Formats: sequence, C-alpha cells, structure tokens
Amino acid sequence: MSSMQDLIRKKRDGGQFSHEDIKALIQAVTSEPRQDCQIGAMLMAIWMKGMVVTETQSLTKEMMLSGEVLSWPEEWRKLVVDKHSTGGVGDKVSLVLAPALAACGCKVPMISGRGLAHTGGTLDKLESIPGYKVQQSREQILNIVGSVGCCIVGQTETLVPADRVLYALRDVTSTVDSVPLITGSIISKKGAESLSALVLDVKFGRAALYKDLDGAKELAKLMVDTGNGLGIKTAAALSRMDGTIGRCVGNSLEVIESLETLKGKGPDDLMELVMSLGGVLLMMVGLVPDQSEGSKRISEAVNGGAALKKFQEMMEAQGVAKETARALCSAHCDYFSVLRKSEFQQELTAPTDGVVADIDGMALAEVLHKLLRGASFAGSPWVRIHYETPPLTPDLTSRLQSALKVQKDDGTQTQHGPKLVAEVLLPDQL
Ligand code: URA
Repeated sequence: MSSMQDLIRKKRDGGQFSHEDIKALIQAVTSEPRQDCQIGAMLMAIWMKGMVVTETQSLTKEMMLSGEVLSWPEEWRKLVVDKHSTGGVGDKVSLVLAPALAACGCKVPMISGRGLAHTGGTLDKLESIPGYKVQQSREQILNIVGSVGCCIVGQTETLVPADRVLYALRDVTSTVDSVPLITGSIISKKGAESLSALVLDVKFGRAALYKDLDGAKELAKLMVDTGNGLGIKTAAALSRMDGTIGRCVGNSLEVIESLETLKGKGPDDLMELVMSLGGVLLMMVGLVPDQSEGSKRISEAVNGGAALKKFQEMMEAQGVAKETARALCSAHCDYFSVLRKSEFQQELTAPTDGVVADIDGMALAEVLHKLLRGASFAGSPWVRIHYETPPLTPDLTSRLQSALKVQKDDGTQTQHGPKLVAEVLLPDQL
C-alpha cells in the first residue's frame, strides 16, 4: 500500500489514483493517529489537479464505506428516495417535498444539513418548531419512516465519518469548492442511506454556489454519473437561484410558508420546484410512467391535503406535541401563537412607482445572515425584516434596498419570471 507521502506526490504531479490508492487515502483519514497536515496537502493537490470520473467514484465509495450503511426492509427496497439541494435562499422545498412523496407512497428518510455560507439549512428551519427533534437514531428513523413514510433528520454519528474529517479540513484549507470533493461528500452520504433514487437540485445564479449554468452542469453531471455508478438512480435538475424561492426567508417564516403551501396556498415558484423534483423521483422509482404524471401526483398530494397530514404526523413522530402539530396544520392558524416572533420588525418601502423587476437574493441573504432572522415580502412596503439584534444600521438598510429593482410598468412584463428549472439530467437507464 502506498504511503500518504507517495500519494500526495502522485496527485501533485498530475497522476491518476487507482482504487487501491483511494482506499489507502481514506484509511489515513479515518485511522488514528491522523496526520492533518498530510490530509490538507492531499486536499490541495486534489483541488489543483482534479480527479477523473473513476477516481471520484472510488473516492465516493470508500467514503461511504468508512461508516455505517443503512439498510431497509425488503418491501421498501424500490421506494426509498431523497433529494439534495446545493443550497438556496428561501429554499424550503424539502419541507413540502418529503411529506408529498410519502403521501404518494415513497419512503423518505431525508437526511438534511445546516446552513452553509449564505444559504439556509433545513434542520435550522425545522428546529424553529417547538419540540421538533432533528437528531434521531437509526432505529428511530426506521420506525418513523415505517409509520409515517418520511422523516427529516440530521446526520447520524455513524454515517460517513470520513466526510466529517475531510469537510472540516477542506474548510480550513480553502478546498471546499472542488467538484470531485463536493461530489464525494454529497453522494457518499446519500449512498450510505441506501437509496433507490435520488434527485439533485443543482442551483446556478447570483445567489448560488455556481453563478453560471455551465459550472453547475459540470457538478450535476459528475454527481449523476457517480450516484448511478453506486447503484442509486440519480437525476439532477438545474434550477435558477437569482432571487429567493417563495416570499419568505428565515427559519420560522419559511416554516410558515411551507405550511401555507401544504394547505394549497403556496407560491408558484416553490410549487414548480416541488412538482419537478417530485415528478422525477416518482418516475425513477416506477410509480408513474413519466415525469409529468409524477408532477401531477405531487400536486394532488399537496393541494388535496394528503401531504399536510403526513407533515403533521412527521412532526408528532419527531417530538412535537400533538396540540402544537394540530394547531400548525389547522386551516386558520395564528402561527405566531405557536412559533416565536422576532422582537423587531421593519418595513422598507419601494422608492418609485412601477413593477418589481428583480430582487437580489444574495443581498437579502447577506443582510439577514447578519441579523439572524428573516424577511417576508409584501405589497408596497416591499420587504419586512424580522430581527433580534439591533441595530439595522443605515449601511445594512441601503444594502437591502439595493436588492430591489423597480421598473416602469409598460404592460409588457409578465407576472411570472422565467421557469426555474432550466434542464433535467436523467440517468442513462431508468
Ligand atoms: N454539502 C455537503 O454535504 N458537502 C459539500 O461538500 C458541499 C455541500
């Protein structure tokens, strides 16, 4: 077996790793004593020289095998699905999609993450519901998915320990943004969930990791090839992320918007994403003949109330008191009697008459990150900021105000912007 020193030199000089080399690398990452300086140097060599598809597939597989690999009852085998998003602003798709998929007959052990950089995390959003426990053991996950059909939980301690080490070292060595390392990190965790099918929401645009479609497509293609190589039917949707998804950004506000969506009153862009991603998954597991039939089923599950019922059951199974879950899912809920309201709120008003031409999701996310709360948009005052830590300084206010572009209403603007989902990459074989 080659030493780490040999392997670092090999990659530094532009060589290609064999499967055995990658096995040795992951062993060095997960055994004690660990040489963080060597791992850091290796990460930088990979960042600079890259990896071909076969190397990325080996890396992903060995990372997946570094810990526990979940297993499911035989009768679920073809129905276990999940979705992963590369991160958005106001991205609450998981909160609607997981229960909608469960209502359509899928098994959804959704393992989600915390916020990364300017993007929000699904776990942080759910934790704004009093009592909701994101940390669940393997047995609890099995029970909840068995009885409800879906859960949304955090990573268990035993899943992909190699990623925990690599991710922390990537963070401090400026090697997070490497396509093969991102692919290994994301797909190894999905592989350890033993999924039948996975859909990736790979975002591009001003408020996304990748600003242009080409960069996002490169990552999407590598993740699709790697996921399919591991035996998971994997597809990717390339979706636009310039503004925000829906009208609310921030943990409890996004829970409210998700509940409103599950009550059939959601914004069009959120529903477009939920229906596209859900439609692809239902098609990949063979519950429907094509994506458009799948999208129709998802829409019926949301608009007919079946998905809301699953969300209520999931909240209760994950620790929320029955009365709280029932109140949140009731038709006319006073949400802030259950969820905490921020101490401060301020509205900003539109500077001129006209129509809203653009809202810069990145500017909003940056300011909200500083204020640690959220924003919701409404009529003439175009944004309402809910925050805890004053002051909302003139600098922050002007950065927020710069996010809004109003233009003269000449009657030519359409009410809805361009379609969010630009392209879907499907596996070669369904
Ligand atoms: N999410 C992950 O889990 N890993 C990455 O590398 C990037 C996003």
